[in-house]
Amino acid sequence: MDRIKSGVEGLDGMIEGGFVKNSSVLIGGGCGSGKSTFAMQFIYNGALAGEPGVYVSFEEEPEQIRTNMAGMGWDIEKLEKEKKIQILQVQPEDVMHIVKQEYGLISDAIQDLGAKRVVIDSVTSIEMLIQHEYERRQSILKLLKWLRKVDCTGILIAESEQDPIHYSRYGILEFVVDGVIVLYNIRRGKSRVRALEVLKMRGTNHHTNLVPYIIEQGITLKPTQPIFGALGGE
Ligand SMILES: Nc1ncnc2c1ncn2[C@@H]1O[C@H](COP(=O)(O)OP(=O)(O)O)[C@@H](O)[C@H]1O
Ligand SMILES: [Mg+2]
Repeated sequence: MDRIKSGVEGLDGMIEGGFVKNSSVLIGGGCGSGKSTFAMQFIYNGALAGEPGVYVSFEEEPEQIRTNMAGMGWDIEKLEKEKKIQILQVQPEDVMHIVKQEYGLISDAIQDLGAKRVVIDSVTSIEMLIQHEYERRQSILKLLKWLRKVDCTGILIAESEQDPIHYSRYGILEFVVDGVIVLYNIRRGKSRVRALEVLKMRGTNHHTNLVPYIIEQGITLKPTQPIFGALGGE
């Protein structure tokens, strides 16, 4: 199976070398857990390695994303100018239109760039705008079907609790995607600890333990560090 490098240091070794090419991987986690950072790291490192990427943002403004990511040491704007990255912002009022058009606007951006990677930040914003359960489910299935067509490896971001029971808001996404990675940001006494778990990765003999990570120049896994050890927990 062809593998696509995640761009996240330490992760590829846990998943047989990377994501299965053209698969869809859900990144779930609470606010501030590092989902957007993870997703941009995937796009940024891909772009540097000759695999252009489209980052679709339903929430943050492109300018805000560029500024946040500059804090990680990533010059996103330079790669945008070189047509290796495109940030596509979708306003809430345009979401239904995009869904009805079967994500055509995003396909255009992918074609323009010859993109091999795509991020949807976040699928929760799409889900929340659809009132009826049946319609919501159909839109998610359509999104996955579309993703399989566009010849890209996709990261789908889902908002969840910091220590989730459901990995996406409506508990549908995690069943239809090929992989699920959970970013935990859990309170232990007076501080929080970050840990990543590969919950599901179809076609992959993946590690199943929670691995601590830090956010500095992006996300770096610290497999040898005990998760709660320093705090006297588990
Ligand atoms: N330059 C930085 N250095 C270290 N940590 C950072 C930096 N920028 C952001 N962070 C951390 O990352 C968190 C935001 O990550 P983000 O990817 O936006 O989370 P999410 O998308 O899950 O809400 C911040 O709350 C902060 O803790
Ligand atoms: Mg985010």
